[in-house]
Amino acid sequence: MTLPDTDRYPTEQLPVVTAPAPAPLLELREARAAYDAITVLHGVDLTVAGGQVVALLGPNGAGKTTTLKVAAGVHPVSGGRLLLGGRDVTGVDPKDLARKGVCLIPEGRGVFPNLSVRDNLLMMTFTGRSRSEIEEIAFTRFPILGKRAHQLAGTMSGGEQQMLALARGLATDPAVLMLDELSMGLAPLIVGRLYDQVAEIARQGVAVLVVEQFAAAVLDIADHAAVLVRGRIEKQGHPDSLRHELAELYLGSSK
Ligand SMILES: Nc1ncnc2c1ncn2[C@@H]1O[C@H](COP(=O)(O)OP(=O)(O)OP(=O)(O)O)[C@@H](O)[C@H]1O
Ligand SMILES: [Mg+2]
Repeated sequence: MTLPDTDRYPTEQLPVVTAPAPAPLLELREARAAYDAITVLHGVDLTVAGGQVVALLGPNGAGKTTTLKVAAGVHPVSGGRLLLGGRDVTGVDPKDLARKGVCLIPEGRGVFPNLSVRDNLLMMTFTGRSRSEIEEIAFTRFPILGKRAHQLAGTMSGGEQQMLALARGLATDPAVLMLDELSMGLAPLIVGRLYDQVAEIARQGVAVLVVEQFAAAVLDIADHAAVLVRGRIEKQGHPDSLRHELAELYLGSSK
């Protein structure tokens, strides 16, 4: 994982001068994307630094999933640039981006329902990590997965499956972790707990980009939030400054 050196100073020795914002690990510049002739992203600017949680919010069809696909290199840009650690990686093969630490956990959890928890994790040994290392990381962060190691993933609760999906993502030692609709179909309490884990992952230096339609839980842990509407970022800023706009947007979009 290539990370900016954020731990250099113990808190009491922090220099008085305002440090420059950390260099973004992930950056979309004026990103445009289309499906056939239909453009769905009209120039999206978005940056995520190591250690930061950025929330990308917006109504159905706004282009949130497409933005993540573009950022992971699995959907091409039709204009604009994708940068990783300050380097232009526009058009780079998604497998190479994955090797550089870009991890997308897609909507719908991305676990194999007919495989056990253990075997779902075992598949991640392609990353070069051993089974025991991967299990240790997974079971330390999500002890319930250890208890359910032999259970078929598809028979676990939605929240447990999402934990497994996160654990699989962590096995890749991501520098950039992207999550699409983590909260889908889950009870608010479970979502809150999952987001606490996501915040903890970010604290270890990972750049986290979270997509959600409905905002509340993710705004609690996000450092920055952006609202995407019809393929354009309508507003971005501190999560608190966006709560009001979001409420209005969703009321507006349901008319
Ligand atoms: N594979 C595809 N082929 C054609 N059009 C697509 C495809 N995927 C998405 N689109 C269109 O692109 C637009 C943006 O879709 P996207 O999935 O990025 O939105 P979203 O913000 O993730 O929505 P949701 O909140 O419903 O998940 C939509 O109009 C959608 O119909
Ligand atoms: Mg989506």
